[in-house]
Amino acid sequence: MQSPKYTARAHTNIALIKYWGKLDQDLIIPMNSSLSLTLDKFYTDTSVFFDSTLKQDIFRLNNKESSSLKVTHFMKVLREKTGETRFAMINSENHVPSAAGLASSASAFAALALAASRAAGLVLDSRSLSRLARRGSGSATRSIYGGFVEWQQGSDDATSYAVPFEENVAWNLSMIAVVISAKQKKISSSVGMQRVVATSPYYSAWRKTAAQDLAAMKKAIKKRDFRQVGTIAEENAMKMHALNASAHPHFSYFEPASLQVMKIVADLRSNGIFCYYTLDAGPNVKIICQNKDIQTILAALAPSFSQERLVVAGPGPGVKLIDKP
Ligand code: DP6
Repeated sequence: MQSPKYTARAHTNIALIKYWGKLDQDLIIPMNSSLSLTLDKFYTDTSVFFDSTLKQDIFRLNNKESSSLKVTHFMKVLREKTGETRFAMINSENHVPSAAGLASSASAFAALALAASRAAGLVLDSRSLSRLARRGSGSATRSIYGGFVEWQQGSDDATSYAVPFEENVAWNLSMIAVVISAKQKKISSSVGMQRVVATSPYYSAWRKTAAQDLAAMKKAIKKRDFRQVGTIAEENAMKMHALNASAHPHFSYFEPASLQVMKIVADLRSNGIFCYYTLDAGPNVKIICQNKDIQTILAALAPSFSQERLVVAGPGPGVKLIDKP
């Protein structure tokens, strides 16, 4: 017996105030609240149906059978929550322009949460969906919504979820993703943040300043103070990467080309082009800029990075069903 098949689309998001550390590993309760921008260019389409003849979940990614411990774990959680007993057929497609490397667990688990809960017969409101996506990957908590999204850390499963901060962003800003490497990261976010929490002497300072950064960021977005938004985001990202540099053993996601982009951005800024960078658990750099400056910034990057390594993205929408029975 097969369940109906549902297909959901979720966009990835880039944090302006980062989530970096878990209070609870299994429930994925973060150590600090975070805030992100959902992007239009990078998304995942996932279809799910349950089938009583399956002996295990089958997960296909970009038309290739794959195995993912995170997906297996998430489906176990989903079955516990929904009472569904069958295994599932899961088909995911990452839509990432050109050089790739920007597909993320955020869009993956937001899409899977919606498609799988519906296939299991459950219609969840956005908050419950956000809590469910959180069980797959922390950053997925925020991809339920479009635009600027805050993940309120909470203290347990019921209180840790995302809320929209500004869903329809009427602001001419973009993120230019500079793809430096499409390779799998050597130290996953989970492992990286766990090590940092356990060993960085600066972790308590991070928690304190992340809360301050978040409050200042929300004010700056409300005031439409672009320079302030960019400055806070860049500094917050660098504080996160400083935790990695101060962990034991220390590690870094930066590649030489990441530093090169950071320098190009700093040089542009000293020439009056206000743009800012942020990096996650990998070497790719995302440049936050105003639309009027996109061409100038692309021209400054062009001598060092080919066109297919530069992807301009704008604010994107929240998760939705794109196909249902
Ligand atoms: C640096 O959501 O990938 O991108 O919860 O362990 O799956 P898990 O981690 P993940 O971590 C994202 C970390 C980050 C910052 C952020 O997106 O807030």
